[in-house]
Amino acid sequence: MLSNAHSTIALSMDVFRIIRTAINKRFGILFSDSDRYLLESRLSARLTDLELSSFEEYIAYFKTTSNDAELDTAIELLTNNETYFFREDYQLSAFNDELLPRLQMQKRKERQLTIWSAGCSSGEEAYSIAIFIAESGLFSGWDVRIFGSDISSRMLERARQSRFGKSAFRTTSEYLKMKYFKRQGAQWELDSQVREKCSFAKINLLDTDRTAMLGRFDAIFCRNVLMYFDKKARINTVHLFHRHLNPNGYLLLGHTESLFNQDTPFTQVNLREALVYQKQESALA
Ligand SMILES: C[S@@+](CC[C@H](N)C(=O)[O-])C[C@H]1O[C@@H](n2cnc3c(N)ncnc32)[C@H](O)[C@@H]1O
Repeated sequence: MLSNAHSTIALSMDVFRIIRTAINKRFGILFSDSDRYLLESRLSARLTDLELSSFEEYIAYFKTTSNDAELDTAIELLTNNETYFFREDYQLSAFNDELLPRLQMQKRKERQLTIWSAGCSSGEEAYSIAIFIAESGLFSGWDVRIFGSDISSRMLERARQSRFGKSAFRTTSEYLKMKYFKRQGAQWELDSQVREKCSFAKINLLDTDRTAMLGRFDAIFCRNVLMYFDKKARINTVHLFHRHLNPNGYLLLGHTESLFNQDTPFTQVNLREALVYQKQESALA
């Protein structure tokens, strides 16, 4: 008999490990043994949609489809997409006060600035960066592009809509909210000039075919993403960022994601309020 929409289907440790390994291989995300109940409760809804009554059937279903396509669907139910405007604002302030003036000097001939928000969820990080750049007044008349990427189509769709509810503004000043957003019922719509600087695409950071098509950036933000990865995926992703930064470009990670004690090609830069990483000018690749 099939379960109704609210029931949970039991996930054995053996099957949990098969699913966990497949997810880890494709996305780098590592679930611990204690996450079994999370997978059980979140994936039960997926099994119900597929009219499957056990996780053993789900594994068999995997084999009749492309594993990757099903994993892309399943991961939407499993990742933490938490984000909001001006998150870790001490780091964004350091970016604003210390890195943007440096980047303006570094890029003054090209007058082009490109920033990547990798693992951008619903876009608040990319748009916060765009707002800081607009506020700085340092790049008027420049070609400024902010690129956001994520594995979640659902989150990217929200990012493209650029309309946000109350919780997205939990640390936003009234000044910036009023200046860059217009109220639309219960939501707030981002100013079109800021929105136009930003574009979004679905990219799995572990998909080397897809990431090989990306160009180079002056700064890469990847915050609260690597903390979910295993060590190998973290190292590979840090090297990916190194390849995709311009010489002297900067990498900004979340506050729990320091590269301390890790194999890294980056140089650590201690700003007044934050720690960032820089690709040295002479660095090859
Ligand atoms: C907690 S959110 C962080 C959002 C934003 N960077 C911030 O700090 O507010 C983590 C995001 O990373 C994305 N993610 C996880 N694994 C990924 C992968 N392999 N490739 C790209 N994005 C990934 C998730 O879909 C999720 O939206």
